[in-house]
Amino acid sequence: MDLTELSIMTAMSPPARDPPPSPPFCFIIPELPKLCSSRNQMASRRVGFCLSEKKIKRMNLSAFADLCAGHGIDVVEINLSQPVASQGPFNVIVHKLSDVIVEAKHDSQSEQLLSNFQSYISAHPQTVLLDPLPAMTQLLDRFVSYRIMSQLQTTLKGRSICCPPYLEINTRDPSVIQSAVRSRQLSYPLICKTRVAHGSRSHEMSLIFSKAGLCDVHPPCVLQSFVNHGAVLHKVFVVGDDHFTVERPSLKNFPPGPCDRSTIFFNSHDVSKPESSSHLTALDDTMPRLPPPSDDAMVALVRQLRAELGMSLFGVDVIVNLHTHTLTIIDINIFPGYEGVPQFFSSLLNYIESIMEKQGPLLPDRSPQPSQHEEQRPTGGYKS
Ligand SMILES: Nc1ncnc2c1ncn2[C@@H]1O[C@H](COP(=O)(O)OP(=O)(O)OP(=O)(O)O)[C@@H](O)[C@H]1O
Ligand SMILES: [Mg+2]
Repeated sequence: MDLTELSIMTAMSPPARDPPPSPPFCFIIPELPKLCSSRNQMASRRVGFCLSEKKIKRMNLSAFADLCAGHGIDVVEINLSQPVASQGPFNVIVHKLSDVIVEAKHDSQSEQLLSNFQSYISAHPQTVLLDPLPAMTQLLDRFVSYRIMSQLQTTLKGRSICCPPYLEINTRDPSVIQSAVRSRQLSYPLICKTRVAHGSRSHEMSLIFSKAGLCDVHPPCVLQSFVNHGAVLHKVFVVGDDHFTVERPSLKNFPPGPCDRSTIFFNSHDVSKPESSSHLTALDDTMPRLPPPSDDAMVALVRQLRAELGMSLFGVDVIVNLHTHTLTIIDINIFPGYEGVPQFFSSLLNYIESIMEKQGPLLPDRSPQPSQHEEQRPTGGYKS
């Protein structure tokens, strides 16, 4: 039996409370001061945003730029296909280069964009990057992110925080997988997720109910014990030292243990988006509501993750184990959507200002001056 292709991390369990409100899916824009500076006026404090066009629209960056302008901060949409130096200088750069990082592995153009961006960051150490590229890159690989989640069980021992047992799968051989499932004590049903945690395919998952279903596993992927949790997902959104929790629909309970049922294939966005409504999330009305995760446990979890990841803008998906009430971590997300967090803009602005307060004045860029053509400040994100 060759188990070398498979590895596992096991988990433990405990409690939770404090139900978060279900705020609207828009961000509250605090009132602007009367003398708000124009967005085109050159401000001495500058934040660059390097996001896909889709993300720019989704987060309503222009509304955030208006809020920043009222605080004397210039928001610049960085265009990666132009020299970054000609668009700077920047106190802070906020980015979500997940697409580019994933594509750079097999596409030379993306590799070049990423390399130019990295060179700019290395040459401008006074610019604070939210978040560091290596920290983000590790979360794009579920093999790595699940190891991080598992380690949390040890560092947060005594807090009743766990992550479900899982296996890293690199083989298609059902008998090898079956022995690993048994020896590592994973319990049916199993949830199967792709190794790559970014892109539309990464949300295609399956629920496997018995050893017969193991032939539906397509490596490389993660197999994880499914944890009954009353169909409630707690999405924790982190912005620097702040965090906000929002409830979302989630997969319903399934009878524990193997059963004679075919594999269910589903897209995670059909079950855990605010508007999701699916037969997979419908609970029977007699199901009692579980206590929400405890504040103390959430604070400890966020603090520890911030320190371990070295990141400021991320999300954690948490469920509460139906039987043990243990807070169970199932996912960590890079710069999530903050949907349902009306304080997102004010919190992000506060955080950016707190970084700027610790910085000296921006030094003029000493990189070679761009040509007049390049000088025109481009707007718009990169295509994804
Ligand atoms: N171990 C588990 N036990 C029970 N339900 C789970 C488990 N893992 C995932 N789920 C369910 O599947 C959904 C999707 O899982 P996960 O968050 O890992 O996927 P994702 O596609 O990466 O999510 P996101 O949209 O946050 O990027 C969860 O919201 C939850 O409903
Ligand atoms: Mg998730």
